[in-house]
Parts: sequence; C-alpha cells; structure tokens
Amino acid sequence: MSADDQKRRAGEAAAERVAAGMIVGLGTGSTAAWFVKALAARKLPDLRCVPTSEATAELARELGLPLSTLEDTPRIDLTVDGADEVGPGLALIKGGGAALLREKLVWEASARCIVIADAAKVVKTLGRFALPIEVVAFGHKTTANRIADVLADHDIAMPARVRQAERGLVRTDGGNLIYDAACGAIHDPARLADDLKLITGVVEHGLFLDLADEAIVGTDDGIEVLT
Ligand code: 5RP
Repeated sequence: MSADDQKRRAGEAAAERVAAGMIVGLGTGSTAAWFVKALAARKLPDLRCVPTSEATAELARELGLPLSTLEDTPRIDLTVDGADEVGPGLALIKGGGAALLREKLVWEASARCIVIADAAKVVKTLGRFALPIEVVAFGHKTTANRIADVLADHDIAMPARVRQAERGLVRTDGGNLIYDAACGAIHDPARLADDLKLITGVVEHGLFLDLADEAIVGTDDGIEVLT
C-alpha cells in the first residue's frame, strides 16, 4: 500500500469524528486534503470550517464546505491536520507545507486536535525531517545567524537554510520566509521551542508540543490510533 493510501485512510477515519454543527479546523497538506475530501463527502449540516492556508481554503470552497475565519469563529471544536513527524507524546514537527503559523493559530484555538499521518511519519526521536522555522523577511539573514547560534547551543551544527522554490524564496501565506533546520535529532524539543521563540524575527517554528490530543495513523492494515 502506498503512503498516499495510508494518508487517505487516516483522513477518512478522522472525518468520521466530525459531527453536524461543529466548527472544524482544516489542516494543510496532502493528508489533510484527504480529510477535507472525506468531510465534504459526508455532507454534514451546519458545519463551519476554518482553513489553515489559502490552498486548503480553495479546496474546501471547490468541494462546497462552508468556510469561516478565525476572526469570525475564534473557538474551534475540532482541528484535523497532517504532520511531518509524529514523535513520543504526540510531539510533532509540522510546516513542510509552509503553513505552520496559521496551523498553530488554529490548533491553539481548538478544543481538540487530531493529527493524521501515514505510518512512516511516526518516529522515536524528532528531527530527521528538517524543522521549519517561519521568519520575517526583513533582516532574515541576521535572524538566520541568531537561529544558528541557538541550534549550536542544542548541539546542532548545521545552520538552517532558507527554503527556495524554482521561482525564488518560498513565501508563506502571510508573506514570511521559511528556514529549514536539519537537526538530525532533537533531544530537548521543549527547550529548543522556547529558545527559537525568543529570537526577534522568528514568527513561529514547526514544533507542535502538547497540542495533539490523538493521532490517527494510516497503515497497510487499516488505522492505528495513538493517544
Ligand atoms: C503543512 C504541514 C503538513 O501538515 C505537513 O507538511 C504534512 O504534509 P503531508 O500531509 O502532505 O505529508 O505541516 O504546513
């Protein structure tokens, strides 16, 4: 079974957790897209959906899901989103799709958060996937030097690299840049999260700690639920 089939299984299982009338946070990425499709197919009445990116908003709109914003619906019942890594205690790395800031804002506004993933995303130690860090464009090279100092303090020798696409630097929906830090292994995610947040110019990082209530992992045999 392909990773995409596992993602579909996880997304479909998560869609079953949604009830009529809920305010639902919609994640970003290929796994979250399966959830959005499965949710739309259920045609539940009175939903309001808060997307975490322009891409997800477009997909949800095409599928006829009623959209709202965090401004209009500041309290969300349930958010379902993908992740790049799912570590012990449901500590996550997110931001591979450059949506981490809006994602974290929506997650933090949610009464319950379910992360959905294919089996390969589950790891014993976070850090094999490069940690995305969202940075203000103004003075970003100065901010990158400060990030390098923090990483060095965490025994991470590689400086973070600015994310590039064919057309130039990747911009988030909010117009910021993404730096990716190839950490290798993050031994103290909570301390790293705190230290990165203290850097002026860092808007947010992709460590999602103590936010996920449950993980639904698609496997070759079905799904596995982690709590
Ligand atoms: C976007 C994210 C995604 O949820 C994460 O990158 C996983 O993506 P995919 O489901 O495509 O593997 O954090 O910012």
